Amino acid sequence: SGKKHESKILGHELAAKFYHHLLTTTEQGKAAYDYLLDRGFTQDMISAFQIGYAPDNPAALKALLEKRGFQESEMEEAGLLLRKESSWEYMDRFRNRVMFPIMNNQGRVIAFGGRALQEGQPKYLNSPETPIFHKNETLYALHKARPAIRKENKAILFEGYADVISAWNAGVNNGVATLGTALSARQAKIIRRNAEQAIICYDGDKAGQEAALRSAELLEQEGCQVQVALLPEGSDPDDFIKIHGKDKFVNEIIKAPFTLMSFKMQKLKKEKNLQHEGDRLQYIEEIVGEISKISKAVERDHYLRQVADEFDLSLEALKQEQHRLFRANK
Ligand code: CTP
Ligand code: MN
Ligand code: MN
Ligand code: MN
Ligand code: MN
Repeated sequence: SGKKHESKILGHELAAKFYHHLLTTTEQGKAAYDYLLDRGFTQDMISAFQIGYAPDNPAALKALLEKRGFQESEMEEAGLLLRKESSWEYMDRFRNRVMFPIMNNQGRVIAFGGRALQEGQPKYLNSPETPIFHKNETLYALHKARPAIRKENKAILFEGYADVISAWNAGVNNGVATLGTALSARQAKIIRRNAEQAIICYDGDKAGQEAALRSAELLEQEGCQVQVALLPEGSDPDDFIKIHGKDKFVNEIIKAPFTLMSFKMQKLKKEKNLQHEGDRLQYIEEIVGEISKISKAVERDHYLRQVADEFDLSLEALKQEQHRLFRANK
């Protein structure tokens, strides 16, 4: 916002160019480049998302910023430099990491996500909150995905940078991601401003599925029609595409999402053993409780019938239970 942030943004744009250059054209960047190719990234993906490499040198970016006349204190406030407590000397924040530039709505670089090449360190190091970067109001790749999001009236929400990029390479151009944090109400509002429909496509692990539920409810509160695309246990979209290919990802995952209620049913079932009578009754009570929160009568009826059929119960009994729970929720 405004001229006073301009040099912080210019510092980021210089850094992004520098990191991209190091990754794609220098010997220093070769190990990182090989790492990316090994993971299935192509040169096309690397260029399209301006992926880079921050070298294992504590003063590489610092020296360049200085040479171009940027003030160190301002670059520290921008999150690009750090100050060592022992000597008060400035140094680069990002070292020996694959760098994913994060853009604002105007497509300008305002932050980075940096991925470690080896195990044993925090996997991702993201820029801190700064005057130009507010995590809870930024979505990774939104600037790039916005035309497709608007055209399709639909956004796909992923967990990770690599998921957005691999999906984009598979022709899914309307994907965005949060930045290592839970979806915020601000981010949900931003999605709703661009599309009526949202598909959540989080990792197929317990954490991913819990987070999917929270994000789905938040997006619904903001007025989105939400569906959930489910991945097999233990894989994320990027893994899935690498193992099963683009077509299977598009046709069997992205184009075959579940309604939020159907997702809740599957999730609750996984947590229970429906062979046991006690679990079965508990499942029925919980799912009828969820159904009672649906505002549209026709939809409520549809799901109640489904539960009645599945467990061979009378619709009357379920309706009574639903009314009881509805009153209890009030
Ligand atoms: N994340 C983070 N800090 C971490 C781990 C994760 O900020 N230590 C964020 C990153 O934005 C990451 C997202 O959470 O993209 C999802 O985390 P995870 O599924 O663990 O990472 P992946 O994106 O699958 O990472 P990769 O494929 O590179 O292993
Ligand atoms: Mn601001
Ligand atoms: Mn995950
Ligand atoms: Mn993941
Ligand atoms: Mn991954």
